[in-house]
Amino acid sequence: MSAFPTIKFQNGVKMPIIGLGTWQSTDDDVRRAVEVAIAEAHYPLIDTAEGYQNEEIIYNVLHKLIEEGKIKRDGIFITTKLWTNNLNPDRSLCAARECLRKLKLEKVDLLLCHMPAAYDVTGTEPERGVTVEDVWRGMEAIYEAGLARAIGVSNWSVEQIERVMKTAKVPIHNVQNELHLHWPQHELAEACKKHGISITSYGSLGSPGRVDFTLPNGQKLDWAEAPCALNEPKVKELAEKYKKSPAQVLL
Ligand SMILES: NC(=O)c1ccc[n+]([C@@H]2O[C@H](COP(=O)([O-])OP(=O)(O)OC[C@H]3O[C@@H](n4cnc5c(N)ncnc54)[C@H](OP(=O)(O)O)[C@@H]3O)[C@@H](O)[C@H]2O)c1
Repeated sequence: MSAFPTIKFQNGVKMPIIGLGTWQSTDDDVRRAVEVAIAEAHYPLIDTAEGYQNEEIIYNVLHKLIEEGKIKRDGIFITTKLWTNNLNPDRSLCAARECLRKLKLEKVDLLLCHMPAAYDVTGTEPERGVTVEDVWRGMEAIYEAGLARAIGVSNWSVEQIERVMKTAKVPIHNVQNELHLHWPQHELAEACKKHGISITSYGSLGSPGRVDFTLPNGQKLDWAEAPCALNEPKVKELAEKYKKSPAQVLL
């Protein structure tokens, strides 16, 4: 692993504190961005997801860089996420195996369940009988099978995290949630601190690109209006004072 600062999960696995997000990138952009981020800017972590539909491109870049001797597999921390159609514990272990087989990887460093909701195989109908405790059981089976060095959740509420922690055999190692100036998530931070769970924030700059987001199937999402954190006068004032960019102040 690189010299970037890390945090340590409860199971001893260390995660770099900064990484490259890959949501919404086109195939060409993500290919180039991952190559430059890793080989030239020495980014230590790549964040992807089944739902981003770019995992194969990213892992092809990684395999190429490993073959060229530019990085070692353990020099890069890979976070990915299981999508809702693979969260039913009857299917999640097989789905994780299939996902790794396709990507020619033995294991990922951190596997998150992307949402607190299990859907049917087609991803269209919620599987109403499947609880968050059930979903976590499936994640534990993946961890125990050695397919992920650490496991966690994304977009889960404090209530859902508390419920799972009551019955978990393997604790949640990491929570990845939206967290930024306009939604600092104090309650989540308190709950995670109590359980020794680390937090990854996404949308740290306020996710300005989300309003133009179009799903891979062409559907344009209708986002609510939100103030842009990068343009907040106080952020700009601090940026000037400390000779940093507004984005650096927000991070
Ligand atoms: N777990 C989840 O459900 C979930 C959800 C959303 C995101 N994520 C993860 O978090 C990552 C980041 O999320 P995000 O893109 O929504 O939020 P973000 O990091 O808040 O926003 C990124 C946006 O900020 C702009 N930007 C980047 N650096 C900047 C700078 N120095 N100054 C001004 N603008 C800058 C980028 O513009 P350009 O396009 O011009 O670079 C991009 O549109 C995603 O790629 C994904 O990996 C996870």
